Amino acid sequence: MNKLTNCIINKDSSCRPVWFMRQAGRYLPEFREIRSKNKNFIKLCLNSDLSSEITLQPIHRFNLDSAIIFSDILMVPYALGQEVDFVKDQGPKLSNFDLNFFLNQNEKDFISKLKPIYNSIKKTRTNLDKKKSLISFIGSPWTLIIYMLGMKDENNTLNLGMFKKRKDEINMILKKLNKFLCIHIKNQIEAGADTVQLFDSWAGLIPDENLNEYCYKPNLEIVNFCKKNKIPVICFPKGIKENYLDFMKIVKPDCINIDYDLDPIWIRENLNDVCIQGGMNPKILLEKEENIYQEAEKYLKAFKDYPYIFNLGHGLLPETKLDNVTKLIKFVKEYK
Ligand code: CP3
Repeated sequence: MNKLTNCIINKDSSCRPVWFMRQAGRYLPEFREIRSKNKNFIKLCLNSDLSSEITLQPIHRFNLDSAIIFSDILMVPYALGQEVDFVKDQGPKLSNFDLNFFLNQNEKDFISKLKPIYNSIKKTRTNLDKKKSLISFIGSPWTLIIYMLGMKDENNTLNLGMFKKRKDEINMILKKLNKFLCIHIKNQIEAGADTVQLFDSWAGLIPDENLNEYCYKPNLEIVNFCKKNKIPVICFPKGIKENYLDFMKIVKPDCINIDYDLDPIWIRENLNDVCIQGGMNPKILLEKEENIYQEAEKYLKAFKDYPYIFNLGHGLLPETKLDNVTKLIKFVKEYK
């Protein structure tokens, strides 16, 4: 068993695996080089050879404990018929959503469109050290719907009017999405991934009274699917603050990624029998060395003698210096 799954499943507190969200990304010169020659991001994700090469870039450079497959949460809306465009400095743009068209999408076409991702996983697993895990992922239904319907503005505020008016439609989308997300998870695992992370990056936009319906319930359904199939599962309901406790009680994933709004000591005191991952603000990596070590120590101290995977409270920022990443990893590995 690799270090990450040993920590997640056996709750072994003696290992301290390290990996980073967005570890394969724009802060890496070797990624930028490939990206500059591949202007279409979706096509790049569907190029199995390049996707596998990019997945392994941070492993070769930093010797991290896990690789995360180079793909995107928006590959699922893409495979369900929506056009996805990444406009520089504007974030992703999806073509208009058509409910009937969406409801008519079938499993066979969906899988055939995502085949290159499964081939990339296969190839990566062959070239990756057995001691390292290969993480697959999906976007949780609510977060995908935010992009599919364009339900937030540039300031990342929920369009409450749209949310209220289109609830019936949202409920129909949720149902179908959950089914296809489970298919995507199963195929990624069969191709050679050993863990799945559920990104609910916009869970923090859900009004408190709707958390059960749009965050806990859909994530629980997917977590139950993973448990039934013995797939180690990490949840990341970003931004839900103290509701993390309810999330844990209701959804009960094997591992939970915390964000930087949460105090690690409060988490340590209130969560039990779950592996913890992440927490540190990626912005700290833009600061001076002492600040990075001081902040990292906050997490390492709080989760000493506890199953804890070192990671961040969100993805590495494009302006992160390579040297700071190297230093942080060394600090975590040597921390006693
Ligand atoms: O290294 C890894 O973490 C694996 C690959 C990965 C990417 N996206 C590659 C990527 C993963 C796990 C994701 C998840 C993802 N994608 C999320 C959930 C995590 C989070 O950040 O909250 C979300 C919301 C998306 C949607 C998405 N994809 C956005 C908002 C953007 C543009 C803004 C941004 O941060 O760049 C992307 C593009 C994207 N996905 C890039 C990468 C490396 C940058 C592409 C580029 O322009 O070169």
